[in-house]
Amino acid sequence: MSGYKAIKLIEEEGIIILTIDRPKALNALNNDVFLDLIQAFTEDERVLGAKGVIITGTGDRAFAAGADISEFSELDEAGAMALSQRGQDIFHKIEHFHRPVIAAVNGFALGGGCELAMACHMRIAAENAKFGQPEVNLGILPGYGGTQRLVYLIGKGKAMELTLTGDMIAAEEAHRLGLANHVVPQEELLDKSKSIIAIIATKAPLAIAESIQVVNAALDQDKNGFAMEVAAFGRLAETEDFKEGSAAFLEKRKPSWSGK
Ligand code: COA
Repeated sequence: MSGYKAIKLIEEEGIIILTIDRPKALNALNNDVFLDLIQAFTEDERVLGAKGVIITGTGDRAFAAGADISEFSELDEAGAMALSQRGQDIFHKIEHFHRPVIAAVNGFALGGGCELAMACHMRIAAENAKFGQPEVNLGILPGYGGTQRLVYLIGKGKAMELTLTGDMIAAEEAHRLGLANHVVPQEELLDKSKSIIAIIATKAPLAIAESIQVVNAALDQDKNGFAMEVAAFGRLAETEDFKEGSAAFLEKRKPSWSGK
């Protein structure tokens, strides 16, 4: 599929590398980026059938420096609410994607860029990564789920501090707080991200998809994660892959997954 205006997709060994491609605006998330992300995660068979997705930004300066501020001038209350809801919806879709989605954060991940990274299942930071929620500098607040996901990831006290001060933190601090899973030299960023997806691709695909939903449920106040875990455990016990995985262990061989 083609027709993307603001992202680029390439496939490497079954892994999709989705690159936000607006380097002159530090990969700020404008309307085109959102439309492209929606298309990629809902319709694009290459993405839907991939082993996993790595989201990154063009160049070495930014993952994404936030929502595109040049699109803010005409916003009224209803328009801003619609924008926020659309952002939350697509980031929710990414968070609930059935295969792993990793943010490979090269440079600034600010505002909506930090929110996008937080919606991914993991964040790998290059040594030059900088994270922050600077919306208060503009007179607004994080509107794409950032007020909630930052609390989940680093705890309320630090999340409050970052949200209220608008301060940026560097990669090592993000790692210390649990916002970044790993910090690596910039030239190793994609390889590290790919290697994690490659490991996950050796596991039973239905177990991976169920695990993503149940782990997400831990932080969803509308869901009972413990009950979901019981139900998912039961569903997986009925799969061919569970029989194969157990048999392969006992026969001391590698399992061959059917995804059934
Ligand atoms: N929206 C639109 N354009 C953006 C942008 C954003 N969020 N962030 C950066 N840009 C543009 C700049 O306007 C500039 O464009 P220009 O070259 O046409 O003037 C270009 O990207 C480079 O940014 P610049 O500010 O010159 O780089 P810098 O190295 O001095 O500063 C940042 C980098 C990230 C600190 C700074 O760009 C910044 O604070 N950006 C906004 C971050 C933000 O508030 N995000 C939350 C939005 S809700």
